[in-house]
Amino acid sequence: MKFFHLVFALCLLRSVSTSHLKYHAIFNFGDSLSDTGNFLVSGALAFPVIGKLPYGETFFRHATGRCSDGRLVIDFMAEAFRLPYLPPYLALKEGQNFKHGVNFAVAGATALRSVIFYKQKIGSRLWTNDSLSVQIDWFKKLKSSICSTRKDCETYFKKSLFFVGEIGGNDYNYRAFVGESINQLRASVPLVVKAITNATRLLIEEGAVELVVPGNFPIGCSAVYLTLFQSLNEMDYDRNGCLKAPNAFARYHNTMLKAELHKLRQKYPHANIIYADYYGAAMRFYHAPGHYGQLIATLNSTSLIKSLFFTHAEA
Ligand SMILES: *[C@@H]1O[C@H](CO)[C@@H](O)[C@H](O)[C@H]1NC(C)=O
Ligand SMILES: *[C@@H]1O[C@H](CO)[C@@H](O)[C@H](O)[C@H]1NC(C)=O
Ligand SMILES: *[C@@H]1O[C@H](CO)[C@@H](O)[C@H](O)[C@H]1NC(C)=O
Repeated sequence: MKFFHLVFALCLLRSVSTSHLKYHAIFNFGDSLSDTGNFLVSGALAFPVIGKLPYGETFFRHATGRCSDGRLVIDFMAEAFRLPYLPPYLALKEGQNFKHGVNFAVAGATALRSVIFYKQKIGSRLWTNDSLSVQIDWFKKLKSSICSTRKDCETYFKKSLFFVGEIGGNDYNYRAFVGESINQLRASVPLVVKAITNATRLLIEEGAVELVVPGNFPIGCSAVYLTLFQSLNEMDYDRNGCLKAPNAFARYHNTMLKAELHKLRQKYPHANIIYADYYGAAMRFYHAPGHYGQLIATLNSTSLIKSLFFTHAEA
């Protein structure tokens, strides 16, 4: 996970600084990939490991609740727009200025409501009940203190960037952890995707016009899936040493997400709904780690960065 955070942070940083877009606020929804402290504040686990070093050691020098030793993608996004790091919603204090945005992401969060997991007897696996819909509700609650009239909100949100995810990865992780096969996981994809696009739609109806919706990673290259689904059959692995089936699964999720986002664009032509291809970006690193082994190299790799954000953005 650390790897993802660093690498993506670096390439996203570049992508926004070349975009010539100016935002005065960022609102973020998601899971551990972008949680800047909500989970830790929520106290959902009695002894969260992320509350201790080495978490935070390379940049903040103390644990902040980020699931990383340094900054996350969302931190680099904030830096790129010269905005303050997004304050975690659950840590907002009375009178605190949050005009530059708020982070609603919670580590372990699912796209689907937690009650669905409890009904299926895997609720005990959940780190948190603060699913995407809970995060959207937090946003709605906060909205009245950000802007009051419809016109006010319109003006304000026009210059705000909304990140809806990455989210959904945990919906699959929890199932994989209790022994579901990759094929079984497929059954939940339509619902998970629907939850993500539902949230995107709700945000648009609340006034969001600039939205980034990232897809899933090549999870077949991640340590946890390589461990859970390890195989003695060489044919199960691709040339990069990643497991084919979980990767095909992630692509299945992404294909369905893109199709639903396409529908959303037709329904809301005034909104700019950008699909961010995290899968493709990460795959390049797994395919040619030598090219990206030195993380600084990714900062100069404009082509990589452009493809991450822009080739998949439909007008
Ligand atoms: C999450 O929800 C379940 C069922 O609704 C409840 O039993 C549990 O206590 C909740 N957990 C937290 C951390 O709020
Ligand atoms: C999406 O929204 C629709 C209508 O608001 C609702 O009926 C449906 O349950 C939602 N689906 C998910 C997965 O959140
Ligand atoms: C990347 O940029 C840094 C700083 O501008 C520079 O020192 C470095 O040589 C560049 N690396 C490559 C591979 O171009």
